[in-house]
Amino acid sequence: NWTTTNVVEEQVALIREQVGDKRAICGLSGGVDSAVAAALVQKAIGSQLTCVYVDHGLMRKGETEQVEKDFVAATGAKLKVVDAEKRFLDALAGVSDPEEKRKIIGREFIRVFEQAQLEILQEDGPEVAFLVQGTLYPDVVESGGGTGTANIKSHHNVGGLPDDIEFQLVEPLRQLFKDEVRMVGQELGLPEEIVQRQPFPGPGLGIRIVGEVTKDRLDLLREADAIAREELTAAGLDRDIWQCPVVLLADVRSVGVQGDGRTYGHPIVLRPVSSEDAMTADWSRLPYETLARISTRITNEVADVNRVVLDVTSKPPGTIEWE
Ligand code: XMP
Repeated sequence: NWTTTNVVEEQVALIREQVGDKRAICGLSGGVDSAVAAALVQKAIGSQLTCVYVDHGLMRKGETEQVEKDFVAATGAKLKVVDAEKRFLDALAGVSDPEEKRKIIGREFIRVFEQAQLEILQEDGPEVAFLVQGTLYPDVVESGGGTGTANIKSHHNVGGLPDDIEFQLVEPLRQLFKDEVRMVGQELGLPEEIVQRQPFPGPGLGIRIVGEVTKDRLDLLREADAIAREELTAAGLDRDIWQCPVVLLADVRSVGVQGDGRTYGHPIVLRPVSSEDAMTADWSRLPYETLARISTRITNEVADVNRVVLDVTSKPPGTIEWE
């Protein structure tokens, strides 16, 4: 019979058998799947696991700390955090095109991750033979099945990994759906903020700034996003919406009147959506009082923002993210 306790016990036994006395590494993205996979493997093999988290500086407020503190506190996992903010911002300087931004972020991410892998491989200890991935059942089905014995070869063209390193995959969530993964995460003692997280794109806030990505703009957007999240949570709406991107229109300015006089600031877009699978979506009919609170707080508390607008477009025709 299916219980989370049984799933955890069964997977822990399987992982121990698979990994033996070797070591494993796992990339954490800040998302639910990688966190639960890592927590399961940690429970099975403890210090034989090293987790890697690349902080690209495009995370939302408190997210890196959540991985650094809450995840480690809940699991006791060995965590290598790579601060790569400067590297990413340098690479993104002067770039406004959405696809170009995505490519740069993806490329830098792989480079930094592989460099971290290389450093772990060079540490003393048993052989590192396993790579943990948070693959879910729908991912397995979509990619046409598979037997779980796949060997993946690390990209040896970047980061300088030796050609002959192959990792065997450990994929303890292969038979689970998202809601089951959340339950397993809960069973493993992961905090609610990690387990109930809404989807957040890999390129992070980098694709929620329409225009060039700079540190100042990121800081501004982080503040606005934190306010929106806080108010949505306070209003008890987290489970009603799929996600709510908060977008900065950095290349747009409009005239406002604030405090002592005229301002010429940027708009912030709220994009709350409801969806089943993100393939299609509808804009969420949020209560006016909640929208009003978010708007008042953002314009009062975030410098350089003098307007908050609501995106009332479904998907299609609009995508969920603006870039
Ligand atoms: P769109 O904007 O295509 O988004 O309607 C659909 C869902 O995917 C998320 N998203 C991403 N997730 N890497 C990710 O891991 C990405 O590059 C990425 N782009 C979009 C988006 O937040 C939404 O949930």
